[in-house]
Amino acid sequence: MFKPMMIEDVYTAYGKADVLSGVTMEVWPGRITCLLGSNGSGKSTLIRSILGLTPPHSGSIVFDGLELAGLPPHGIVARGIACIPEGRRIFAKMTVEENLRMGAYLERSDAKVRANMERIYETFPRLRERRLQLAGTMSGGEQAMVSIGRGLMSSPRLLIIDEPSLGLSPALVNDNFRIIRQICESGTAVFLVEQNVRQTLAISHCGYVLAQGRVVASGTAEELRNDPEVRQAYFG
Ligand SMILES: Nc1ncnc2c1ncn2[C@@H]1O[C@H](COP(=O)(O)OP(=O)(O)O)[C@@H](O)[C@H]1O
Ligand SMILES: [Mg+2]
Repeated sequence: MFKPMMIEDVYTAYGKADVLSGVTMEVWPGRITCLLGSNGSGKSTLIRSILGLTPPHSGSIVFDGLELAGLPPHGIVARGIACIPEGRRIFAKMTVEENLRMGAYLERSDAKVRANMERIYETFPRLRERRLQLAGTMSGGEQAMVSIGRGLMSSPRLLIIDEPSLGLSPALVNDNFRIIRQICESGTAVFLVEQNVRQTLAISHCGYVLAQGRVVASGTAEELRNDPEVRQAYFG
């Protein structure tokens, strides 16, 4: 089993203004850790910081015992981190199978790529049926499966998912979350970034709440559900 991701006292800015101000978190393998927070609170910026796309100007992010700060994004991905970005960003003019292959661009062994693809088709039989269809012509729920499948093609040790429920019906969110739970049970660390508090806390083990770039609450899913501030902000 590998070690957790430790985010410590991270400050990240676009230009002069800090968007993250001293964020500290832990993301463990075999757990779903959620990151909740309203629009603009800095959730995607934290993901960009982890991936090295907008590197922190201070603080540290250690994954599996190694400091990520200073590594270029491809170096960070090569450490075993995959991200399913906000808005899914599938390749609309490519087939389902081509989209999946794009998720394994660092993998040199074609046998491994095919084995991973087979595993993903077992998780999502729908994608196998549709493997030659252009991804842009599929339904929102199916496109969500393509984006999750693509994220899994590199067999990541840490999977970061940015707002997967966006634009999906509650039933489709449930389907996707069930699969996210399975991914975590296979030993992967899952960092689930969401605004959908109720459904997210239902599948997460623990989590954090971000407001204006600071952690304002943290704990187990149960503790967060009962946190007075979380209740007032999200459950009315
Ligand atoms: N590329 C950018 N340049 C400047 N400001 C940005 C950029 N991206 C996000 N921001 C600002 O950073 C803040 C946090 O945004 P973001 O991390 O996208 O929040 P969230 O994902 O929680 O909605 C917002 O005020 C947003 O306007
Ligand atoms: Mg965002």
